[in-house]
Amino acid sequence: MTARSQLYEGKAKILYTTDDPAVLLTYFKDDATAFNAQKRGSIEGKGAFNCAIASHLFKQLEASGIPTHFIEQTSANEMRVQAVQIVPLEVVVRNIAAGSLCQQTGLSLGTVLKQPLVEFYYKNDALGDPLLTLDRLLLLELATAEQVEQLRVMALKINDVLQPFFMTCGITLVDFKLEFGLDQHQRLLLADEISPDTCRLWNLTEDDPKQRVMDKDRFRQDLGDVASAYRQVMERVLQQAL
Ligand code: TMP
Repeated sequence: MTARSQLYEGKAKILYTTDDPAVLLTYFKDDATAFNAQKRGSIEGKGAFNCAIASHLFKQLEASGIPTHFIEQTSANEMRVQAVQIVPLEVVVRNIAAGSLCQQTGLSLGTVLKQPLVEFYYKNDALGDPLLTLDRLLLLELATAEQVEQLRVMALKINDVLQPFFMTCGITLVDFKLEFGLDQHQRLLLADEISPDTCRLWNLTEDDPKQRVMDKDRFRQDLGDVASAYRQVMERVLQQAL
């Protein structure tokens, strides 16, 4: 199957059409952005690291009964995915307080949450992806109440698979962001990617708050060694058999 034309270029990925209208090709770029693209850069090898990590995690999730858009990895930076209509929500799951949760609530970095927290953000760059209330989400008709409940259940199930998976890799899954899409049967599928770009991952055996970071916070906070942290995540993830 040959790639046809570029459908959409995002900050970290490009989507291409294929001969089959139900199938798209995702190309993972080395480009990195943070703070709604106010900070821009490039992380050498990131595209290939994230493509390999996301492919492995999608397979892991499919094997655990979670429907995803993933079909197969076709090259170092590319995967074939089912075409879906993206739900304009960023679903964030948190196990440990970090990032905007600390900034907005005063919770200390590293506070272990008694139960996972699921949050919905409006996927809208022009508005800076604001945190939504359920009533605002419904007001804007971003999803139905039934879909919101389904998203919450899927997000928690994904956490139940990923948290122990990363633990076996010697990595603490602090928090992560998910995106979902609707297929032609209006079925919700996990879409986009799961990678160090979209998760907070801390090295389990490292206590130093800067040293332990194995995700995009190294880029956001200029901690250095970004590519080697992503490579380390890839190597540990790929070592875990399905
Ligand atoms: P936050 O603490 O900045 O709200 O981020 C929560 C999680 O979501 C964290 O794992 C990083 C991820 N994330 C994205 O994937 N994309 C984004 O645009 C933002 C702001 C966060």
